[in-house]
Amino acid sequence: MRILMVCLGNICRSPIAEGVLRHKAQQHGLNWIIDSAGTESYHVGEQPHRFSQKICAANGIDISYQRARMFVKADFKNYDLIYALAGDVYAEIGRIGGLQADMKKVHYFMNELNAGANQSVPDPYYGAENGYETVYQLIDKTCDAIIANHQ
Ligand code: 4NP
Repeated sequence: MRILMVCLGNICRSPIAEGVLRHKAQQHGLNWIIDSAGTESYHVGEQPHRFSQKICAANGIDISYQRARMFVKADFKNYDLIYALAGDVYAEIGRIGGLQADMKKVHYFMNELNAGANQSVPDPYYGAENGYETVYQLIDKTCDAIIANHQ
């Protein structure tokens, strides 16, 4: 299974989701390909936000190798499951994909935890460091649900 995590900047939320799900998939012996991308270009080429790296490292997960990239039309071809970490991201994925947008592949990430609720992972970018702890806990629980729902 090929899974893509998508947020706005690809520096705060989706890098955590990529790192956490990759870690859990390995622990479960699942041979999944996991990547992440953003719908905005501001941070392309950058490492994950230092607070995202810090909260992952505190939980034994290294995400420092990641570099931000934009979500592109070809991602609809290259991935089986595309997770939008927030509602605005879901809409942008459809807009970027245009006629190639296969929205059957696109799901609200948090629906794995609360089916049909269409909840968003809050954007921690403009907030304080403790926001990254909240985001990490939400992502961690949701990644457990992804493993449980798909293996
Ligand atoms: P992310 O957070 O989508 O979780 O990576 C953001 C990062 C940067 C910006 C917005 C959200 N920004 O506006 O630069």
